[in-house]
Amino acid sequence: KSTQHASLKQFRQVKEEINQVYAQISAYIDECLEFFNSDCSANTPGAIGDAASAKVEEACFARILTPAAVQSVTDFRAKVRGIREVISRNQMKCAFFGRTSNGKSTVINAMLGRKVLPSGIGHTTNCFLQVEGTSKQSAYLQTPNSSEEQPIESVSQLGSALSNEKMDCESLVRVFWPKQLCSLLREDVVLLDSPGVDVSPDLDTWIDQFCMDADVFILVCNSESTLMNTEKKFFHKVGSKLSKPNVFVLNNRWDCSDGELDSAELVRKQHMDKSVSFLADELKSCTRSEAESRVYFVSAKEALVNRLKETNQGLESPSPAGSLADGWQSRYFDFKNFEREFELILSESAIRTKFAAHAEQGRHIAGQMFSILEAVYEGSVEEKDSAVRQRQALQRDLENLRVRNAKVAASTERDIRQTLEGIERKVAGTLSE
Ligand code: GTP
Ligand code: MG
Repeated sequence: KSTQHASLKQFRQVKEEINQVYAQISAYIDECLEFFNSDCSANTPGAIGDAASAKVEEACFARILTPAAVQSVTDFRAKVRGIREVISRNQMKCAFFGRTSNGKSTVINAMLGRKVLPSGIGHTTNCFLQVEGTSKQSAYLQTPNSSEEQPIESVSQLGSALSNEKMDCESLVRVFWPKQLCSLLREDVVLLDSPGVDVSPDLDTWIDQFCMDADVFILVCNSESTLMNTEKKFFHKVGSKLSKPNVFVLNNRWDCSDGELDSAELVRKQHMDKSVSFLADELKSCTRSEAESRVYFVSAKEALVNRLKETNQGLESPSPAGSLADGWQSRYFDFKNFEREFELILSESAIRTKFAAHAEQGRHIAGQMFSILEAVYEGSVEEKDSAVRQRQALQRDLENLRVRNAKVAASTERDIRQTLEGIERKVAGTLSE
């Protein structure tokens, strides 16, 4: 169990580490501002506490610490707060696309290990559905028109809540599912379900609104038919807006190939060739050998059945597990291989795209803070030196004054003595006369 979602855990680890670095930067900034805003005379214990000397110190402090420096550090504090907020909200996002009824919602349910999203024949998903984890005990949804948390009691209730809302296919409904019920959501993964790419003409809006921050795309195909132009067109548009998108191709409904043993291998090879050439040659999103590890032949329906059985969930629902066709083991095996590779690429890509910029910003802020504080330090050293120079000059002046005073005093004494002696002589002369 401890190795479950091992690669996804790296994302959380990096997130934690980068958050700690920012916590340190933040504490450093707070400490600086506390120092900047402190009463400057309080920083020099033993200073003569009269008002005049406090004024001198204040002026000296103002010379060292310019208003621009204080403003920069104050701005950094706000910036760091903003970045920490963004980091705490960062998640790994995976978006699912494909034609109607290819099994997008079923793939998501299989990955989540439970029936979270409505699925069914015909056109089921009529708007974007983003499944994410919540720490709350029960599931709820949020529609684009209100911030109200609407409780979700069951999948069918979610289905009818969505159809009652009368939403267009460009709306986003967020489905919050308790993290404690789903290990994938505990790892900060967000899964985005979409209406079929064949139902909306405005693919640009879809991409601009929902795909620009996606780390991985999953194209859910129907292996009973072939890769369609509508599906290709959508991903060509994605490729024109995002450089080298990470795309996986799931050839779903592979259980339907069961019983056609003769042709199954041939069809598999055809699909593989087409998918690899689509990913590598057309989209140029990866190399041909990488592309081979991005194409899988699965049955989402069977994978879900297996997951429900594994967790004994099939027992409670009215039409529980459903059946498993012969050879389901290899399809389920392929599904698990897909999940492993998907988790690896998802966390690698999310770490690179979501945190690299923050790491760079952190480095920049730390560098700027260092320059500001170095300037403050140099200013204070300069002030100290000039104070020492002033004191030395003052001492020299005092010494000169003392010497001059002594000279004056000596000569004055001599003069007085001579005058007195003169008077004495005069008096003596007068007396003798
Ligand atoms: P929309 O939301 O309408 O675009 O469809 P979707 O792509 O989400 O397909 P959905 O998951 O709703 O599946 C459509 C139907 O196909 C459902 O009845 C599923 O049970 C069924 N289905 C999905 N995956 C498989 C599969 O691997 N094998 C088989 N036999 N049926 C599947
Ligand atoms: Mg659907």
